Amino acid sequence: MPEKILFVDGDQATLNWLKAKFAKEGFDVDTANRGDLAWSKIQADPPDILITELTLPDLTGLELVRRVKQDSHYRYVGMFILSLRTDPQDIAASLDAGAEQYIMKRPGSDIELIAKIRARKAQSKKNTGLGSMQELGNQFSFCSAKGGSGTTSVCINTAYALAKLSHGADIVVVDMVLPLGTIGLSLGYKSENTVARLSNLGVKALDPSLIKKYVSPPLRWGFRVLIGANNPNEATSIDIELVRDLFMNLRQIYDYVLVDFGRMLSRLSLPILETSNGIILIVTPDMSTVHSTRLVAEYLQSHNISRNQLILVNNRTVGRVWTTTQDIEREIQLPLMETLPYEVEHMTMAINDAVPFMEKFPNNAACMGFTDLARQLLQRAKQATG
Ligand SMILES: Nc1ncnc2c1ncn2[C@@H]1O[C@H](COP(=O)(O)OP(=O)(O)OP(=O)(O)O)[C@@H](O)[C@H]1O
Ligand SMILES: [Mg+2]
Repeated sequence: MPEKILFVDGDQATLNWLKAKFAKEGFDVDTANRGDLAWSKIQADPPDILITELTLPDLTGLELVRRVKQDSHYRYVGMFILSLRTDPQDIAASLDAGAEQYIMKRPGSDIELIAKIRARKAQSKKNTGLGSMQELGNQFSFCSAKGGSGTTSVCINTAYALAKLSHGADIVVVDMVLPLGTIGLSLGYKSENTVARLSNLGVKALDPSLIKKYVSPPLRWGFRVLIGANNPNEATSIDIELVRDLFMNLRQIYDYVLVDFGRMLSRLSLPILETSNGIILIVTPDMSTVHSTRLVAEYLQSHNISRNQLILVNNRTVGRVWTTTQDIEREIQLPLMETLPYEVEHMTMAINDAVPFMEKFPNNAACMGFTDLARQLLQRAKQATG
C-alpha cells in the first residue's frame, strides 16, 4: 500500500506541483493550504508523513508539528519541514519540536525529499518486530472454556473502562474469534479491513503503516477495533506466522492490545496467549463450566503459560448461586480476580443498541467490576514496564 503524505503549504501552486510530482512517484498524496485544515485532516485520517512549510496563513508549521507530537494517537506520523527559511534557528526549533527532517526549498529538494522518505521506510521495515518486550505495549487476552460465557462483553467493557482510566492511551481491541466474531456488531463498527484480508494480501512482512490502515480510528468510546474476519470463507486461509507478526507490530504501535479469543484454543491463539501480559479466563458459576475452565487452565500451563499470567473472572453470578467463590477457586486452583454480576437483560440490550454496556447503564453493578478489572490490568502493565 502506498505511503500517505500530507503536504501543508500556504502557496497553492507549490501544493499542486508537489502533489503531481509525488503522485507520479507512487505516493498517496493529500494537501492542505492552512494549518487548521491540515489538523482536521490529520484527525480524520492520519497520514504516514506530514510535510509542512513553517510559514502558514494561520498556525505556524511549528505549532502544527507540536500539536501532532503531543497527541499519542499520532506518534507514528513522521514529520518533515520543507521550507524557504534557511535560518539555523528555524532548523533547530523544528527538530526540537519533533520534526525528523528539515529540507530547504530549492531546486532538487523534491528529489532529496523522496530519497529521505524511502530511506525512512526502509529503516522502519528493518526495525519491525525487533523491539524488546520492555518497549512493547501491553497485551491482554480474553478467553473462556465455554461459548456464551460473556468473553466478548467483558473484553469490550474492560476496553471501555481502560480508555476512561488511562487518559489518552492508545487502545485497540482485536476480535480473534474465528471464523466469525461479534465485536464489530456489538459496537456498530463495520469494515472490510480484517485480519483475514490482511493475511490474504500475501505480503511477506507487515509494516506499521499497512497495519494502521486495517485498524479503525478511535471509536467514540476511546478505543480502536480490528476485526478478525467478516465471513467464514475469508477466515480459512489465515496465516499463523502473519498473525504472530501482526501482534508484535500491534504492540509496537499501540499502548494496549486487548484480544478476544472466545473459546479458541488453537495453534493460532497459543503463541499470542503465551506472550500476553495477562490472560483473562472468563468462568460462569455452573460446575460444568468451572470444571472445563480448570482443564483449560491446566492446558495453558502445560504450554509455556505461567500461572501468574492467568486472571480468573467470574461472570453472570447471581445471589442464590449454586457455586461459591471458594468452590470455584478450589476447583480451578486459581484466585478469582473479579466477580461480575448477572445483569439480566441489560447486557443484551446494550449489544442490541451497539454500545458498550458501561455506556448504556453506567450505574449498574457490573460497571464497578469492569472498572476494577481495568484498574488491575493497568497495575499489571505498570509492573511489566518496571
Ligand atoms: N454479566 C452478564 N449479565 C447478563 N447477561 C450477560 C452477562 N454477560 C454476558 N451476557 C449475555 O450473554 C450473551 C453472551 O455474551 P457474549 O457474547 O459476551 O459471550 P461470549 O463468551 O463472547 O460468546 P461467544 O462464545 O458467542 O463468543 C449475550 O447475550 C450477553 O448479553
Ligand atoms: Mg464472543
